[in-house]
Amino acid sequence: MRHGRPIAAVAVVLCVTLISLVVRAQSVQPPGDAPKLNLPETNFGSPEGARGDLPRPAPGFAHARVASNPQAPGAKPIGERTCVACHKLEVDHFTHTLHALGLHVANRSDPHIPVCEACHGPGSEHAADPRVKGLIIGYTHDSGTPIETQTKTCLTCHSGGARDRWLGSAHQRQDLSCSDCHNPMAKFSAQGLMARSSINDTCAQCHKDILEQFSRRSHMPLPEGHLSCADCHNPHGTLNDHLLKTATVNETCYQCHADKRGPFLFEHAPVRENCLNCHLPHGSNQSTLLVAPVPFICQQCHTNFLHPNDLQTKQALGTGLHPDERVLGRGCLTCHANIHGSNAASGVRFHE
Ligand code: HEC
Ligand code: HEC
Ligand code: HEC
Ligand code: HEC
Ligand code: HEC
Ligand code: HEC
Ligand code: HEC
Ligand code: HEC
Ligand code: HEC
Ligand code: HEC
Repeated sequence: MRHGRPIAAVAVVLCVTLISLVVRAQSVQPPGDAPKLNLPETNFGSPEGARGDLPRPAPGFAHARVASNPQAPGAKPIGERTCVACHKLEVDHFTHTLHALGLHVANRSDPHIPVCEACHGPGSEHAADPRVKGLIIGYTHDSGTPIETQTKTCLTCHSGGARDRWLGSAHQRQDLSCSDCHNPMAKFSAQGLMARSSINDTCAQCHKDILEQFSRRSHMPLPEGHLSCADCHNPHGTLNDHLLKTATVNETCYQCHADKRGPFLFEHAPVRENCLNCHLPHGSNQSTLLVAPVPFICQQCHTNFLHPNDLQTKQALGTGLHPDERVLGRGCLTCHANIHGSNAASGVRFHE
């Protein structure tokens, strides 16, 4: 009982503060009918994007429309609640995704904004007979919805930006749907609504051979989590070969290996031309991603005369009769160390 008084005093002070806060909040509220839910202050609401170099945002959930489904021209929207009645499990998974959050907020402030039907099209005919394929826009290869309708629906909100070159891209021509890489129905990945837990695993569904190149002796640190396929490739399509993000291979590499860009007083011609003259982009069983070991890689080009041309025999090895510094240690690189280009006073031979 000895502590009763102070506690009571604190409680009284707290109550008074709370009441005064509530009163003040009420007096600040503007007069009018029930308070409106506002859309969040993000790019979600902005019709067109001016966000500097960030990708162009989608038009925003506030602009969502019921998708058009050419296979069910007479269908009418029936609203999320009717879908939930039959699709409880899917809806539970969907709840935690970005689209669900955005569309629910928009739908609550304006009930005409669809939720499920923004992607799946009007549902009345499907609900009447769920077994007929195509009456609802499905996103699998056997859903009865043509791939073109699937991608078009996503692109009504997501055209442009990174997807400017989707039409005609390697993946579009191979009949991929957005849902081969994305699954907006559940949160499988931390970002990007990928169909698998990471970008790399998503690509590996079909490019397992490429992912395996990253387990070679030397490799880009992709399994270690330092980069992903999407650092070099734009899977949505580009004007460049192999879906590369940049016009040349070298520009891709310079993004992270800026030191190799130079400028150099003494350039090594094959480096300027293409890093892949000597390196593999994903992984190699030679050291440092090389296509062949030193000295053979050098001798692919330097064969006309003098020491670059010498045959590297067994005798030239450390245990041989005439050990040769071109095979020992770092081989040619022992002396021609600045192989990517040099600013050293020793000049054109790329010595240190
Ligand atoms: C009366 C119950 C019912 C209602 C209401 C209903 N569905 Fe379905 N839906 C089904 C059934 C059953 C299937 C499975 C059909 C099958 O396997 O052939 C299905 C399948 C689907 C599929 C998969 C299609 C495919 O082939 O890939 C989608 C997408 C879908 N429903 C979305 C919706 C949406 C969106 C709504 C609300 C607009 C909705 N459904 C309303 C019962 C319903
Ligand atoms: C942003 C677009 C989008 C919205 C919004 C959306 N879906 Fe989907 N839905 C998809 C895609 C894409 C798939 C195919 C997923 C896959 O690869 O299996 C899909 C698949 C489904 C399926 C087939 C079963 C499955 O999980 O593969 C059902 C059923 C379904 N959705 C119901 C709904 C319902 C109900 C809602 C609303 C609560 C809804 N969807 C909202 C895009 C959407
Ligand atoms: C009604 C418009 C609308 C439709 C239809 C729509 N989206 Fe979105 N989506 C958005 C908005 C808005 C965002 C928020 C990000 C932004 O502003 O770009 C978003 C975000 C995304 C993201 C990024 C998620 C993240 O975590 O960063 C992916 C991936 C995506 N959508 C894929 C799809 C796919 C695939 C479809 C078709 C099945 C689709 N969307 C259909 C409006 C839409
Ligand atoms: C071959 C796989 C693949 C396909 C097919 C694909 N995407 Fe993506 N998408 C990705 C990857 C990987 C990322 C993450 C890119 C990053 O983080 O730089 C991404 C990111 C996105 C984003 C979020 C980032 C942004 O650019 O705004 C949206 C939205 C998106 N994709 C929409 C689509 C739509 C729409 C389609 C169908 C027309 C589609 N994607 C087809 C792999 C794919
Ligand atoms: C559903 C299967 C599938 C998925 C998933 C997929 N691809 Fe592809 N990809 C293909 C097919 C099919 C081709 C065309 C045949 C080929 O060149 O191997 C292709 C081609 C490519 C090419 C070569 C294009 C060219 O012009 O040489 C690149 C690069 C590529 N994909 C990267 C990716 C990346 C990165 C991802 C993940 C974000 C990805 N792919 C996910 C099926 C897929
Ligand atoms: C460090 C940059 C980089 C990363 C990371 C990368 N690639 Fe590549 N990739 C390239 C380059 C450069 C080429 C072009 C090779 C050529 O011109 O011979 C290429 C070529 C390809 C090709 C077509 C040629 C072939 O070898 O079949 C595919 C498919 C491909 N990459 C898929 C992937 C996938 C999948 C991932 C992720 C697991 C990935 N790439 C990660 C740079 C990269
Ligand atoms: C997104 C960033 C990124 C891009 C793009 C990139 N690299 Fe790398 N690269 C790295 C990182 C990180 C390492 C690891 C560095 C380390 O371990 O010190 C690395 C390592 C290397 C190595 C040394 C590997 C070893 O085993 O020692 C070579 C060679 C290399 N990269 C060549 C290239 C080439 C060629 C390209 C263009 C096709 C390229 N890189 C594009 C990030 C990148
Ligand atoms: C003439 C062949 C050749 C070309 C072309 C070439 N490299 Fe190399 N690169 C090498 C050799 C040899 C090594 C190993 C050096 C060593 O062991 O000290 C190497 C090592 C590397 C390394 C790891 C060690 C370091 O110096 O950081 C990176 C990163 C690298 N190269 C990036 C590139 C990039 C980026 C390009 C294109 C701009 C390129 N290389 C073009 C021969 C080449
Ligand atoms: C793809 C062909 C190619 C490969 C591989 C290559 N080089 Fe070169 N290298 C050249 C060309 C072309 C020149 C410029 C020759 C000129 O200017 O006369 C050059 C110039 C040089 C020079 C300066 C020669 C001079 O007289 O200016 C040296 C030293 C050299 N390379 C060493 C090497 C070494 C060491 C390797 C292996 C790590 C190597 N190169 C791999 C094509 C290549
Ligand atoms: C012990 C140091 C050393 C080693 C190891 C070495 N070089 Fe050299 N290299 C030189 C020197 C010094 C020169 C300049 C010779 C001159 O100016 O006459 C030179 C010149 C060159 C040149 C210019 C053309 C020429 O013949 O004058 C090329 C190309 C070259 N080296 C390639 C190679 C290759 C390829 C290897 C590996 C097979 C290699 N070097 C190993 C020291 C070395």
